[in-house]
Amino acid sequence: MVKEILFVIVLLSITLQGVAAQAKPKTWTDELGESFSSVFDNFNYEYFINKRNLTSDNYDEKRAALIKEANEDYFTFDVPELTEKEQRANDIIQDLREQVVQGDHSPLLLPYYEGKKQISESNLHQAIRKMPKGAHLRLHQIAAYPLDFIINVTYKDDAYYNIKENRLSTFSNKAAAKPGFHKCNFLRKNWKFGGTFDSFLRSKILITEDELKSQEHSEIWKSFRAKFYTLEHLFREPENIRAGLLEICKRALKDGVYIVEFRRSLRGNITQKLENYQYVQREMKKIDPAFEIALIVSSTRDSKAKAKHQLDVYNQVRKTYPFVIGFDFIGTKDALPSIYSFKDLILDAMNQDDDDEQTENDFNLFFHAGETTDRYNEELYDAILLGVKRIGHGFGTLLHPRLIDKVIEEDIGIEICPISNLVLGYILDMRWHPIRTLMNKGVSVTISSDDPTLFGYDNLSLDFTYGIIAWQLDLKDLKQLALNSIKQSSIHEDLKTKVYAKFYKEWENFIDSLNVSC
Ligand SMILES: *[C@@H]1O[C@H](CO)[C@@H](O)[C@H](O)[C@H]1NC(C)=O
Ligand SMILES: *[C@@H]1O[C@H](CO)[C@@H](O)[C@H](O)[C@H]1NC(C)=O
Ligand SMILES: *[C@@H]1O[C@H](CO)[C@@H](O)[C@H](O)[C@H]1NC(C)=O
Ligand SMILES: *[C@@H]1O[C@H](CO)[C@@H](O)[C@H](O)[C@H]1NC(C)=O
Repeated sequence: MVKEILFVIVLLSITLQGVAAQAKPKTWTDELGESFSSVFDNFNYEYFINKRNLTSDNYDEKRAALIKEANEDYFTFDVPELTEKEQRANDIIQDLREQVVQGDHSPLLLPYYEGKKQISESNLHQAIRKMPKGAHLRLHQIAAYPLDFIINVTYKDDAYYNIKENRLSTFSNKAAAKPGFHKCNFLRKNWKFGGTFDSFLRSKILITEDELKSQEHSEIWKSFRAKFYTLEHLFREPENIRAGLLEICKRALKDGVYIVEFRRSLRGNITQKLENYQYVQREMKKIDPAFEIALIVSSTRDSKAKAKHQLDVYNQVRKTYPFVIGFDFIGTKDALPSIYSFKDLILDAMNQDDDDEQTENDFNLFFHAGETTDRYNEELYDAILLGVKRIGHGFGTLLHPRLIDKVIEEDIGIEICPISNLVLGYILDMRWHPIRTLMNKGVSVTISSDDPTLFGYDNLSLDFTYGIIAWQLDLKDLKQLALNSIKQSSIHEDLKTKVYAKFYKEWENFIDSLNVSC
């Protein structure tokens, strides 16, 4: 408005002066100078300065009101003010953070493995390992078996490797082995390609610094996908699966995680696969009665037939196996067919859910969506329209502010995977991760690891540590993130009572441990 008024005044005065100045010709600069001075002579400075009615007496008050307004949506509204003890613990965490950050020389900016080494060796990380974290909601089973455990499995007599295909597998004996496969123990003993067979295997399983060089997600994804293929068949038989799941869960529990929701497709002998989870659940209950596991049946989006099969399987088993809590399309990348192209399959499967029946397990969708920097990627529209309970990754919502409102209205959780986003080349500077805006808007975000083994670690703690360093999380944020994860978990509400009790107890211990160690 003010600009428009100014403009009209300038025009008007130029015209008027033009008419009055017939006698002596003026240069255009004279005219311009005069017109401006006349504008300024008549200008109401008071109006500008006092538009907001600011005085030195009321400035601070108005400023505080603006800050309050800007922070009104902040996502920690569930967490009451910190107690005195918590406040001290928070100060300690911030000091520990300072030790890592050291001004601007943040290890976040180093090449991944170098930075990760510094961060995992920091006192901050050691402290955060003791923090209870609630639920781990986004974890791909194949990419979560700890690396040292995987290497151990390849020492077993039934473990084979195919160098040309870069694939591990198990076979009951030599005669049953497919062409090209050799016993791992044989290769290990006769290894002639430099280094050891074990270090070679590690380099095939971990994403390497070399594979990350391009910083382009399409490039990084090529090597990344291959790693699932390398591992998949090593985990076909119940023995390895059970031992592997148990190892993941035991480490999760030590890491302050009390619910693990695995993502995996259900193929082969499905009853047997489901019995594996039941076995692990029973074993974990012996160690901690509050511990829960759940399964989100997952399908890749590369084939309609596969997707339909997994949707059918999900519908068949979800009513009999209460721990089977939902369905996800994984491996969604900008390159794969869209969620939209599967809409009829999804709608068919969804409509098989008869609402009359009071079953415990509804048809639940947890779509991987918005792991993209592409403005034209539309999967978030479909995910939200189809009524997902949580969105995997979801940082692409930042490109669609109206969708953020919907996410809040419908209380959809967003599973943020910081290290995954960094490694796969989506967020190269973690300080600018969209989670910061989502937190400010009040979205119920949570933290997950996605594929930790392939990224060279096995603790959800490390994702939290990166978050503290990059996003300046305080203790209130950390508590809210953990509470969100339990709230957003899809295990039955009755089961959560024990988890919450465990969480609050361990939270006290964590706060005490910080206060004691300082
Ligand atoms: C400006 O501030 C004064 C004192 O703070 C107050 O009395 C007055 O009503 C305000 N005027 C406007 C237009 O807000
Ligand atoms: C791997 O095997 C070694 C040697 O048998 C053992 O000490 C270690 O605990 C095993 N680690 C895992 C994770 O199974
Ligand atoms: C599948 O596994 C179950 C339980 O482990 C077993 O009883 C059944 O015989 C298996 N079915 C087939 C077709 O192998
Ligand atoms: C993960 O946590 C376990 C248990 O706290 C610890 O022994 C292990 O060293 C941790 N690993 C990393 C990479 O921090």
